[in-house]
Amino acid sequence: MCGIVGYIGTQVATEILLAGLEKLEYRGYDSAGIATVWEGDVNCVRAKGKLHNLRTKLEHIEIPAQIGIGHTRWATHGKPEEHNAHPHLDTAMRIAVVQNGIIENYRELREELKQKGHQFRSETDTEVIPHLIAEFLKNLPSPPLPTSPSFFLEAVRQAVKHLEGAFAIAVIAADYPDELIVVRQQAPLVIGFGQGEFFCASDTPAIVAYTRAVLPLENGEIARLTPLGVEIYNFAGDRLKKQPRLLNLHPMMVEKQGFKHFMLKEIYEQPGVVRASLEAYFNNDGNPSPINLSLPKEFYADIDQIQIVACGTSWHAALVGKYLIEQLAGISTQVHYASEYRYAPSPLLPNTLTIGVTQSGETADTLAALAMEKERRQGKEAKYQARLLGITNRPESSLGHLVPHIISTLAGIEIGVAATKTFVAQLMAFYALALDLAARRQTINPDKLADIIHGLRQIPKEIEATLESQEKLTEHLAHEFAETQDFIFLGRGINFPIALEGALKLKEISYIHAEGYPAGEMKHGPIALLDAKVPVVAIAVPGSVYEKVISNAQEAKARDSRLIGVTTVNDGEAAEIFNDLLPVATVDELLSPILTVIPLQLLAYHIAARRGLDVDQPRNLAKSVTVE
Ligand code: M6R
Repeated sequence: MCGIVGYIGTQVATEILLAGLEKLEYRGYDSAGIATVWEGDVNCVRAKGKLHNLRTKLEHIEIPAQIGIGHTRWATHGKPEEHNAHPHLDTAMRIAVVQNGIIENYRELREELKQKGHQFRSETDTEVIPHLIAEFLKNLPSPPLPTSPSFFLEAVRQAVKHLEGAFAIAVIAADYPDELIVVRQQAPLVIGFGQGEFFCASDTPAIVAYTRAVLPLENGEIARLTPLGVEIYNFAGDRLKKQPRLLNLHPMMVEKQGFKHFMLKEIYEQPGVVRASLEAYFNNDGNPSPINLSLPKEFYADIDQIQIVACGTSWHAALVGKYLIEQLAGISTQVHYASEYRYAPSPLLPNTLTIGVTQSGETADTLAALAMEKERRQGKEAKYQARLLGITNRPESSLGHLVPHIISTLAGIEIGVAATKTFVAQLMAFYALALDLAARRQTINPDKLADIIHGLRQIPKEIEATLESQEKLTEHLAHEFAETQDFIFLGRGINFPIALEGALKLKEISYIHAEGYPAGEMKHGPIALLDAKVPVVAIAVPGSVYEKVISNAQEAKARDSRLIGVTTVNDGEAAEIFNDLLPVATVDELLSPILTVIPLQLLAYHIAARRGLDVDQPRNLAKSVTVE
């Protein structure tokens, strides 16, 4: 949440900062701002709302500075107003700071600083940081400490030692025009290495147009960027030796490539995501399992139960994962909202594998739930020790640092705030994991295993066919439903999580109220909501619960709801019941979620686009939720 970017080098900073912020806007877009150092002063320009407001303001201001920091905000402390926008300055307006995260002890610090005469101009937690740095700068001994190369670095280092919380910051100062100081403490920050120029950012897309040599900072590290190079220290002030690595990300991957929105492009990338996952997970010689997740042998030993923690769409993927693991591998599996689990964990059981699912690898609640699990099992006997696995699209993220084992999902970077291709990539990871566990525990017979893997190999072209046939159908339906106020999504069994996901997609990008229910639960209360104004989308595909869903759909029809069926092609029975059909190919029931979700993504997309909404950056949301 919140995006920060910084530049020091020989080019004009403003354009580089704005271009970087554009790539980070998915992290928050309540306000934006930049600060540069030029001719002995800090110049700070900020604007409420989206980045284009800041861009418009800057059109009339020419600052040729070659150092600067920028920020795009997702408001936590203080309303999304200009005075709360970052960068924040100290009283004398000589130091500028951008921050991503939360400073938990900001109230105490603010009171102390006020008593020392510091004047505050915002309601944010961040503003204490420039004031604190100013205070340390004022009080540092002169000449500079022999151990520190710079007063400025030393003052920032002293200041961050007083901050509590999870944060990443970038700081510049009028009196130190050749230094950009950055800090990471539980919030992501990467440094980019160019030729005589250096960058920092919350995420790599912001800098990939300039360099692919990057170094993600670790927690508790502080870096000093100058036109001559980058020095890295820990909070104790010890210099660390670290080398950048080359990023496997092309600038084209973060462009819309002719699609109207990133979300639509990402929906269309799903066949490729499934192909990449098949290639990565299912290409070994079958011994001992035809699946290769690159997990060590000991990972598989003595797993008696599994618990999964996740949020939002990742939580829905986890529900599908639970179904697959229980039905295929016979391992009892619980799925928890990470935000709930961290405050009310299950009793400690032995031989428990805990899986965290997060596409960003930065979701604060998921990370905290995993960290808590690790901590509460520390010092216990071997069978109670934490066994942690992460499933993420960003293996280099904080999650990657927290857990010993990772299954990388292969969606490529996802920009649209609504998760689409990363969901499908997570499903692929769960198919691979569940089948792998089943094969190793011999809970699946080899023919069935071969059938499922064969079925998975057909999925990319089935998704392509679905996209081709559904684009117009969903666009047409969107026209009819653009003004609808409530939707119900029904599914059962392995497609119940898809009903939840369909409802979430619609809610988050179209702002239409939608609920996902297990179809059999309708009669226990929610059916009271139904009338001609409330359409019902039901997922009715062949399998163990097909007839049950059809009956539940009939019950809704009897209450005058218009019925939209996600069915299979040539299903005559469904054609008679549903008012509208969104058919997908017939596949094994276990594989159906990966197809049934496609029309629901398209439906949500087209309804939101039809309503003229900002599909890629829906109100109040952010792509990575790095605060509690
Ligand atoms: O990065 P994560 O997978 O941990 O994110 C979890 C949720 O914040 C995320 O899935 C959110 O619900 C999406 N906006 C859904 O489209």
